[in-house]
Amino acid sequence: MSWSLLLALCALLLLLLKLLCFLCVDGDLTLMWSEWLGRRPEQELTGLVVWVTGASSGIGEELAYQLSKLGVSLVLSARRVHELERVKRKCLGNGNLKEKDIFILPFDLANRSSHEVATKAVLQEFGRIDVLVNNAGKTHSSLIVDTKMDFFKELMELNYLGTVSLTKCVLPHMIERKQGKIVIVNSLVSSVPIPIASGYCASKHALQGFIHSLQIELIKHPGIIASNICPGLVHSNIRKNMLTEEVTKTVGHNTTQVHKMATSRCVRLMLVAMANNLKEVWIGEQPYLLVAYLWQYVPTLAWWIIHKFWEKRIDLFKSGVDVSKTKYK
Ligand SMILES: NC(=O)c1ccc[n+]([C@@H]2O[C@H](COP(=O)([O-])OP(=O)(O)OC[C@H]3O[C@@H](n4cnc5c(N)ncnc54)[C@H](OP(=O)(O)O)[C@@H]3O)[C@@H](O)[C@H]2O)c1
Ligand SMILES: *[C@@H]1O[C@H](CO)[C@@H](O)[C@H](O)[C@H]1NC(C)=O
Ligand SMILES: *[C@@H]1O[C@H](CO)[C@@H](O)[C@H](O)[C@H]1NC(C)=O
Repeated sequence: MSWSLLLALCALLLLLLKLLCFLCVDGDLTLMWSEWLGRRPEQELTGLVVWVTGASSGIGEELAYQLSKLGVSLVLSARRVHELERVKRKCLGNGNLKEKDIFILPFDLANRSSHEVATKAVLQEFGRIDVLVNNAGKTHSSLIVDTKMDFFKELMELNYLGTVSLTKCVLPHMIERKQGKIVIVNSLVSSVPIPIASGYCASKHALQGFIHSLQIELIKHPGIIASNICPGLVHSNIRKNMLTEEVTKTVGHNTTQVHKMATSRCVRLMLVAMANNLKEVWIGEQPYLLVAYLWQYVPTLAWWIIHKFWEKRIDLFKSGVDVSKTKYK
C-alpha cells in the first residue's frame, strides 16, 4: 500500500471519529471544550448578583435552583408572584442561601415603563448587578395566514423589545462598573427557521441581530460579556404557556414524545457558558444540533434534507396533531 493511500485512510478515519464524537455531544464544540477543561461555575459564579427573568417556570426556574446551590444573590422576576415565592422557598430549601439573598421582583416584561423602576429596585437591594439573564419569553402555534397581527406584535413586544429595554436599563450600570454579563436565552430557531411559530422565530432572529451588534459595541468595554445562548428543545412549560387564539387548531390526540433535553442539563451548560464568558452557545440533542450546523454552513443541502420533515410537520398541524410535541422549538 502506498503512503499516500495510508495517509488518506488515516484522515478519513479521523474525520469519521470526529463525526462520531460530534454526534454524541449536546452542545457546540467550544462549549463542550469549556465543560471539559474550562472554568467551573462553582468557582466563577459564586457570590455574584444574578437577575433572572422568567424565573417562575421552566428554564428560569431551574436556573434559580442551580444558581442558589452556587451561592449567589438572586433576583427572581416574572409576573406571577406566588410562583416566584414557590421557587424562592425551594431555593432556600437547598440550604446555601438565606432569606436576604433572594429578592422577588415581579413585573411584566412587556410593560417597558416598569423596567427602570425594577432596575433601581435591584440596585437598592444588592448594590450591583453582575449578571442579567434575559430568559422570559413566549411562543405560539399557528400558520402565518391564520395569525393575527396582534400576535406578531405581542411576541415582538415581549421576546424582543422587552429584552432590549431591560438590557438597556442595566447596561449603563455595568459600563460604569466596567464589568458584568448580559445573557440572552435565545433559541436554535434564532438561526434555523421553523414553521408554525413564525412570530416566535422572527423575535428570536431579531434578538440574534441585537446581541451580535451589542457584542461588537462591547469591544469598547472588555469587562462586559454578552452571551447569546441558543437551546434546542428543552423540557419546560413553554407549550402550556403559549399564546393561544381561536384560529389555533384544537390540539388533538397525543403524539409520540420527542427528544427534549432535560432542563437541568440545559441549565448546567448555560452556567458553564457564563463561567467561561462564551459569546455564542448552541445547546441541543441530536439531530437538532446537526440540523443547526447544516443550516449554518450548507443551507442548500440543509433545505434539501429538511424540507420533507417540515412539510410533514405542517400536514400534521393541519390535521390537528400537536406538532410542537414532535418537532423542535
Ligand atoms: N423550552 C424550550 O424548548 C426552549 C428552547 C429554546 C429557547 N427557549 C427559551 O427559553 C426561555 C424560557 O422559556 P421556558 O421554555 O422556560 O418557558 P416557560 O416554562 O413558559 O417559562 C417562561 C417564563 O417567562 C415568564 N414570562 C412570560 N411572559 C412574561 C411577561 N410578560 N413578563 C414577565 N415574564 C414573563 C413566565 O412567567 P410568568 O408567566 O409568571 O410571567 C415564565 O417564568 C424563553 O425565552 C424561550 O424562548 C425555550
Ligand atoms: C406598567 O408599569 C408601570 C410602572 O410600574 C405601572 O405604573 C403601570 O400601571 C403598568 N402598566 C400596565 C398596563 O400594567
Ligand atoms: C396525553 O397527554 C396528556 C397530557 O400530557 C397525558 O396526561 C396523557 O396520559 C396522554 N395520553 C396518552 C395516551 O399518552
